[in-house]
Amino acid sequence: MVTVSICVGSSCHLKGAYEIIEICEELIEKLGLRDQIELKGNFCLGRCAEKGVTVMVDGEILSGVSPQNFRKIFEEKILRKLGEGNANGSD
Ligand code: FES
Repeated sequence: MVTVSICVGSSCHLKGAYEIIEICEELIEKLGLRDQIELKGNFCLGRCAEKGVTVMVDGEILSGVSPQNFRKIFEEKILRKLGEGNANGSD
């Protein structure tokens, strides 16, 4: 299980947080990962000054996320983590 928390504080909201949540839900649905990815909204993660939206993947804070680059991040960070989890035999 990978936990994805997308910041929905006002600064990230203005930078497209809700659009990212929609893309994330769409990808989870499309790939059949509902029971492997927990998607949450998070209040301000304290990175408002950085570019883009702040997203936390299993406690790792990623800044500069946008609706444009989110698919790539999903692949590189989230799917990769799921792969590692499986390889280790953990969930
Ligand atoms: S509003 Fe998202 S980091 Fe502050």
